[in-house]
Amino acid sequence: MNINQMELASSLGDEALMKRMDHEERADALEDHMSKQLDAAVAARRSKGDYTVSELEALVDKRGYRRGAGRLMVHAFNMLNPEPNGTGSKVSRLAPMPAKPTLIDFFVHRFYPAAHLLQSARLARKSGASEEIALACLLHDAGQYLSRAEHGYWGAQLIEPYVSERVAFAVKYHQALRFYPDPSVDYEYPEVYYRMFGVDYLPPPHIKAAYDYARNHKWYMDARLVTTNDLYAFDPNVEVSIDEFADIIGRHFKQPKEGLGRDNTPVTHMWRTMINPDAPL
Ligand SMILES: [Fe+2]
Ligand SMILES: [Fe+2]
Repeated sequence: MNINQMELASSLGDEALMKRMDHEERADALEDHMSKQLDAAVAARRSKGDYTVSELEALVDKRGYRRGAGRLMVHAFNMLNPEPNGTGSKVSRLAPMPAKPTLIDFFVHRFYPAAHLLQSARLARKSGASEEIALACLLHDAGQYLSRAEHGYWGAQLIEPYVSERVAFAVKYHQALRFYPDPSVDYEYPEVYYRMFGVDYLPPPHIKAAYDYARNHKWYMDARLVTTNDLYAFDPNVEVSIDEFADIIGRHFKQPKEGLGRDNTPVTHMWRTMINPDAPL
């Protein structure tokens, strides 16, 4: 008896019954048994959150939101739970912003709790990274409040008028670098990405091109350090206050005197959108 027949006999619970079957009945029973086994294996994989790209795509029209929607634009949902309704169904009421909002006001009133950003910046500081790298870590996912999709690009653009070119570079390219290991700094492909993007996901050509460009750039390590401090900054037991970074922000973020969203730069509308994401148009 081969393995499948043995499994079939045990699944039928009766070897004698299997022997009484004619060839065709046995083939049908075996096929049924194997398809149930496959279903069970797929269900087990999905219950761990390990979807394939095509399985994740099949869920797109089962949800009332798009996974790329900005954090301020949609109710909170669990990135690792691709089930239809996520973890919540309502957006939160936002606090009014001061007349001249500062970056810290955005952390307090719009990005709160921003634990990942704050932890990431603290890790950077602890590791002895420069103040500019720490600032890049603090802001690296700020773009996600507007759009999770392409958040590195949104984030870099958002801060471009207010930070050094180098900080904006690090924020922009961390998005692409996240997909590519760098053993020189012990950076590996994030496990969580298997669940978020699908176990068989391959980054699209523009991400590969961005990686190739950044890899050969003189500021490569700036963007890479954002990814190394990114990976470990998801500890639910660590609370960090934005006040810890007031000094760095003061030295490296050019706060406009009119307030963010009240000044006149090419990205003022992006901050204004975060001040009032409830504006209908
Ligand atoms: Fe990111
Ligand atoms: Fe991040």
